[in-house]
Amino acid sequence: MNKLQALNALHQKETENKNSPLFVDGNTNIVFGEGNCYAQLMIIGEAPGKNEDIQKKPFVGRAGKLLDKALAECNLFRKDIYITNIVKTRPSENRTPTEEEMSRSWPFLEKQINIIQPHVICSVGACATNALLKKKIPITKIHGLALPFNDIIIVPTFHPAYVLRDPRKYKDFLQDLQFVTQIIKNINK
Ligand code: URA
Repeated sequence: MNKLQALNALHQKETENKNSPLFVDGNTNIVFGEGNCYAQLMIIGEAPGKNEDIQKKPFVGRAGKLLDKALAECNLFRKDIYITNIVKTRPSENRTPTEEEMSRSWPFLEKQINIIQPHVICSVGACATNALLKKKIPITKIHGLALPFNDIIIVPTFHPAYVLRDPRKYKDFLQDLQFVTQIIKNINK
């Protein structure tokens, strides 16, 4: 089974499972993730919002548009990346997912990572970063660092929704993504 088949099989199994632990708040739309399952870069956010829930695609709202803009400045496009979230269904009122919701999604995310085997994961926002590192560290302290995670490098950055609220952070956000691009270029040298 190739990566695409493995990912599709994983998604299908979960969609057909009405008791899937991925559902929160009685939601029925699972936003698995999208992009290139052969990508060297995975971007992992927090959880789908309203637009993502409707379209069943990650990062399609205003925050997603800002993410796309910054990625394009690094010459990276959705076709080059696999994008997903820690939690796969929309928490009500766009609240931060609970620890319990995150741990219920964790085995599924781990399977996605194991299938895709990215070289780099860019975690966007404190929630995704803390969940991946299993530590609570302020994002202002660790953004833009290359951190080991099994055989993968994690580079945390700000969440684009936060950058929308504080546009002065765009420069740092872009720099972190440029650093990610550089790591991938160095791996491919
Ligand atoms: N915010 C996230 O963390 N993920 C999305 O998919 C959309 C908004």
